[in-house]
Amino acid sequence: MGIINKIKQFCFVTLRIIKYELLSDCKRVSGRPKKHHPLLLKGRGKIHFGKNVQIGVIASANFYSHYTYLEAREENSEIIIGDNVAINNAFSIVSFSKVIIENDVLIGVNCSIIDNDGHELEIDKRSAGNPEVAPVHIHQNVFLGSNVSILKGVAIGKNSVIGNGSVVTKNIPENVIAAGNPAKVIRHL
Ligand SMILES: CC(C)(COP(=O)(O)OP(=O)(O)OC[C@H]1O[C@@H](n2cnc3c(N)ncnc32)[C@H](O)[C@@H]1OP(=O)(O)O)[C@@H](O)C(=O)NCCC(=O)NCCS
Repeated sequence: MGIINKIKQFCFVTLRIIKYELLSDCKRVSGRPKKHHPLLLKGRGKIHFGKNVQIGVIASANFYSHYTYLEAREENSEIIIGDNVAINNAFSIVSFSKVIIENDVLIGVNCSIIDNDGHELEIDKRSAGNPEVAPVHIHQNVFLGSNVSILKGVAIGKNSVIGNGSVVTKNIPENVIAAGNPAKVIRHL
């Protein structure tokens, strides 16, 4: 890498990575992902990274503007990311209970996983009440296309693919392609 490119890398990538490290407040982190892109780790729960977890892709949208956001909000919340998981830019997880991503999962740009409703649905309890919460489990070798949202209580079976822009509200079996809002199986692999 030439000197100009090294300066650009330092100013526009490395300093941003450091900024989000300084802003992170999660104290119960284990494992060390490879950060190509900023990563913000929040919450009182546990966040675990397996071996060879990649955060961010330079040749992809949102690389210079966005960051990856992982929040294990409560004391008992957990986010567990397995080995060889590759996460494209602008990914987020908000876990109130447990989110598991098994080994060899591929995640496209701008995906999100949320294991809770964020707010209670009852009209008069919306800001103060307890939202519904249910764990999320992404099994081994799943591929999430870009702009996929995975909602509370969902399990995605081994090897399955989720199409671009899908909203996954119910379990998806293994070895299928599912897509759409709400995501439905479109064919078997
Ligand atoms: C889901 C996907 C893999 C399906 O590819 P495919 O097997 O070639 O499927 P086809 O394009 O033949 O589509 C089959 C049917 O599913 C529908 N479909 C395909 N992708 C869809 C999507 N993302 N959302 C909703 N419907 C979709 C098609 O409209 C078609 O419907 P029809 O049978 O009623 O005409 C592909 O569309 C996709 O989303 N790829 C992921 C791209 C991406 O985000 N990559 C990440 C880069 S890191």
